[in-house]
Amino acid sequence: SRPMRVTVLGAGSWGTTVASLAARNADTLIWARRASTVEQINREHRNEDYLKGLALHRKLRATTSLEEALRDCDVLVMGVPSHSFRATLKQVAPLVRPWVPVISLAKGLEQGTQRRMTEIIHEELPGHPAGLLAGPNIAREVLQGMAAAAVVAMPDETIARALQPLFSSSVFRVYINTDVIGSELGGPLKNVIAISAGMGQGLGVGENTRAMVITRGLAEITRLGVALGGRAETFSGLTGLGDLLTTCMSPLSRNRQVGEQYAAGKTTAEIVASMNMVAEGIKTSSVVMELAGTYGVDMPIAREVAAVVKGEHGAVQAFRGLRRLAAGAEQES
Ligand code: 13P
Repeated sequence: SRPMRVTVLGAGSWGTTVASLAARNADTLIWARRASTVEQINREHRNEDYLKGLALHRKLRATTSLEEALRDCDVLVMGVPSHSFRATLKQVAPLVRPWVPVISLAKGLEQGTQRRMTEIIHEELPGHPAGLLAGPNIAREVLQGMAAAAVVAMPDETIARALQPLFSSSVFRVYINTDVIGSELGGPLKNVIAISAGMGQGLGVGENTRAMVITRGLAEITRLGVALGGRAETFSGLTGLGDLLTTCMSPLSRNRQVGEQYAAGKTTAEIVASMNMVAEGIKTSSVVMELAGTYGVDMPIAREVAAVVKGEHGAVQAFRGLRRLAAGAEQES
């Protein structure tokens, strides 16, 4: 039989990295909007805008044509940010063959609808198996070959097992999980907490306070995640605690950097204008607070982050607010 054909849509840092991983194991094509990006990937095996100085797998091919990208696609990987996820799928719908599994890489929630990315896949591409690849995966580290692990989450274990080898390597271990809701919520929710950790970093609050933010952050992620139908255990796994830790700790995390910028007194508009990448936690923070309201879940850290994002108060006041976490805590659960 012919080799599997993987198509990745979106050539940001993580889409490009996942495409480079898949190119080791399958015939892989990445779609980028910009012709200059496509040329650079095809000719120089690099993507300098997002992964400066790093080499991509030599077999990875790129195209600006969505038709070409989807023509022979067996597995579709969505590497576009959450705010353009639905619009991209609408373009994909008439071009992709039926039943092709779709894997989301985006760690955000849709504004307005509060949908997870796999819910958007079901709405725009009915009948296609939908899942995600997520975990503690700072793109540069993965592309450099530093050991890491991720989870492919699909409702159907057989499909998850079939997809697992596509992304695996000797230094990139891929686990499977059938808890799609829990696996999918870890990423968006940790991004919001990571903004808070970044603010703490910028303000020099100290390691005890940062550990409090991360640990209590996991508690609120888990509370909301379980209310939305995820399994509690999933949130202590790679897509939950794992991704929360790497994003809060790594100076390369965009969401942590956003928090540090807030601590330096910058506004949301200034921060967004200064970045060439998307920090999903900015937009996700208000969606998370809507969900917290609907489901009656207390999310004190996310609430402070959402207030800072909206410009209602600054990072210093947010951390003053978080002191109430320590002052008011009677029971840890
Ligand atoms: P950032 O979007 O904050 O860079 O997070 C990276 C990430 O999700 C690592 O797993």
